[in-house]
Amino acid sequence: MTVYLDHASTTALRPELVAGYLSQLQKLGNPSSIHGAGQKARQIVEDARDQLAKAFDCHRSEVIFTSGGTEGINIAIKGLYLNAIANDPLRNIIITAASEHHAGVDPVEHLEQEAGAIAVWAPLDQFGVIDLNWLEDYLEANGQKVALISLMWVNNETGLITPIPDLTKLAKRFGIPVHCDAVAAFGHIPISFKESGLSTMAVSGHKFGAPVGVGALVVARDAKLAITSHGGGQERGIRSGTLSAALAYALSTAAALAAAEVDSERQRIAALAKRIINFVQQAVPDAIFSRGEQPGYEGIIHFTFPGCSGDSILYLLDSAGVSVSTGSACRAGVAEASHVLIAMGRTEQQARGSLRISLGHSTTEADVDAFIDVFPAAYTGAKKAGLPSS
Ligand SMILES: Cc1ncc(COP(=O)(O)O)c(C=O)c1O
Repeated sequence: MTVYLDHASTTALRPELVAGYLSQLQKLGNPSSIHGAGQKARQIVEDARDQLAKAFDCHRSEVIFTSGGTEGINIAIKGLYLNAIANDPLRNIIITAASEHHAGVDPVEHLEQEAGAIAVWAPLDQFGVIDLNWLEDYLEANGQKVALISLMWVNNETGLITPIPDLTKLAKRFGIPVHCDAVAAFGHIPISFKESGLSTMAVSGHKFGAPVGVGALVVARDAKLAITSHGGGQERGIRSGTLSAALAYALSTAAALAAAEVDSERQRIAALAKRIINFVQQAVPDAIFSRGEQPGYEGIIHFTFPGCSGDSILYLLDSAGVSVSTGSACRAGVAEASHVLIAMGRTEQQARGSLRISLGHSTTEADVDAFIDVFPAAYTGAKKAGLPSS
């Protein structure tokens, strides 16, 4: 039996939505068609939009269906930037952080190479925390030239929470739109788009119990985005393409469940996480808990183990039937140290000692017991092998 502790890369489907999702999959009809079958599909999509608007605490017209986090983040960063420079070519600075997911870092680098953007990478401390005083000083001096700020709510590797409402308050003083990657946040910490002050917020279904391949970009009604993907004009023209009623249904059902349970689930998960953290810290006193005492989402537990390879621990845990990760699955298979840890000032050697254990809605006490059973042997084996010289 496999014990799955990699929920931050993708989590289990919510059982409550499976029957409805499968039934919708078998129905024929394009939500943009005028005939009855199309209109039935449209009704499913619009009901889903209503439910999502409740879960995100936003207006229904602000919900744009996407294929997932990466697409929503690309639409938002490119759209906000290209709109800003179309109105004022001197507004070409994008403030972001090197600890963002590649879905956020790479579009910014693309805009630097292809569209005259200047990326300003916010300085981070050893826990990955952005200094809001630095940001305020930077905006005082350069606010007129900033097109957008793009920062994530919860870091998917370390679990660190960025105080998004404080950040948007600051940005608002300078009239700068803020985009947020909330992929690792929504469903895990309480989120109100209305209260957040954000211009755009991206979420991804497979991180909170919907299938892979669907997500949403919440676009504030007063946000101005250039269109970067052209076609049939669906979703306010922001995201053209045929909508899937089945995926819309699944996304909204999972979102409603996650939003309704967010406080109780967080408490339950925090208690499970505490057992793992205490155990690891006792077993390996020099293990470093990556976000330190900073506020974080408890379900993402990230350690570095000095002199030990995270990959080796992962393989040994895997062969003992426990799935964890060394960082973002999106780069798994590529032998490189975590860019997030590097952004936090760790050396490449230190970053190679990373291990992420992430919990989710299907995690049980028995999963934690299983991890505790097999971790000491996996660590001891990995420590003996040491770190490969690079
Ligand atoms: C924080 C964060 N942003 C973006 C993404 C990309 O989302 P998706 O896989 O839905 O494209 C991920 C996926 O791991 C993530 O964790």
